[in-house]
Amino acid sequence: MDNPYVLTHKTPTRKDFIDTTEFDQSEILDIIKVSTVARDYLKSGHTLETLFHKNLAMLFEQKSTRTRVSFEVGMEQLGGHALNLAPGAIQLGAHETISDTAQVLSRMCDIIMARVDRHESILALAAASSVPVINGMSDYNHPTQEIGDIITILDHLPQDRPYNQVKVVFVGDCTQVCASLMMIATKLGMNFIQYGPPAKWLSDHFLQLGRANTQKYGGSVHVTDNPAYLESADFIYTDVWYGLYDKETPKEVYMREFYPKYQVNDELLALTGNPNVKFMHCLPAMRNEEVTDSVLDGPHSIAWDEAENRLTAQRGLLLYFSSKAQEALDEIKRHKEEN
Ligand code: CP
Repeated sequence: MDNPYVLTHKTPTRKDFIDTTEFDQSEILDIIKVSTVARDYLKSGHTLETLFHKNLAMLFEQKSTRTRVSFEVGMEQLGGHALNLAPGAIQLGAHETISDTAQVLSRMCDIIMARVDRHESILALAAASSVPVINGMSDYNHPTQEIGDIITILDHLPQDRPYNQVKVVFVGDCTQVCASLMMIATKLGMNFIQYGPPAKWLSDHFLQLGRANTQKYGGSVHVTDNPAYLESADFIYTDVWYGLYDKETPKEVYMREFYPKYQVNDELLALTGNPNVKFMHCLPAMRNEEVTDSVLDGPHSIAWDEAENRLTAQRGLLLYFSSKAQEALDEIKRHKEEN
């Protein structure tokens, strides 16, 4: 039986957390383990100050509620400090290059998290930084969301099946959250379907990554516009339809593409035939566009647990990429044995 206090990898195999494709399943399971063990320990009223006196620099080129708050609160809960370096507040984007910024932050901070406009920026930041860099979302992927989402799925598994037998259906646009969900679900051997209009299906690049995962870990990956594929889904997930960054689509265009067929409403949930189907959304939601109030606020919704698990995931990622995850687990185990 798996020991909850022992990691397969005592230290990360890579300095940075940019893309889960760069990590094998055992390392993702390590991150999930430290995230959830630390969550349960903190929720039972204990303190865990493994990152005492450590500093996290948070760079944001885009707005954020969940990512910002979860990293800041997570760092504080672990005894450290987080600096919010919002657009316009530092020289980045004005007179200073991203690599010069990375070198300076590396001399003053222990870890960097950045949400960037372009994926190349997070790669450049990581290349020039001597401390770990965590990708807080780019136009390519959203890996910290992946960890929170997979923890949420594991928290809400159907009672009759292990995680590698569940069916996860993403409804709608191939956003970076859709791509990320596909990558993490297939990393754990799950069955993943994107149900959306053909023009908005995941690219061949992402489908190849997903199929490589299925060859290694089992499960399946499929894109379709056929609602029959919703049948027996365990998890229905959606994201906004309007696109992101410079690809934002006018409302009348995206409504024509997605509405009403791809709106997650009570009728769509009924097509699963699963009375226990769970609904997920990375948030923020455009209520009554991609999801109705009745679903987001209804009994199938686990979107608020999912939002809370962003914090669960960020603590785990901060511990793991600070090479302090095993130390934290050792402390929790020692405390449990003594009490
Ligand atoms: N899901 C997500 O990343 O939310 P924020 O944009 O608020 O960080």
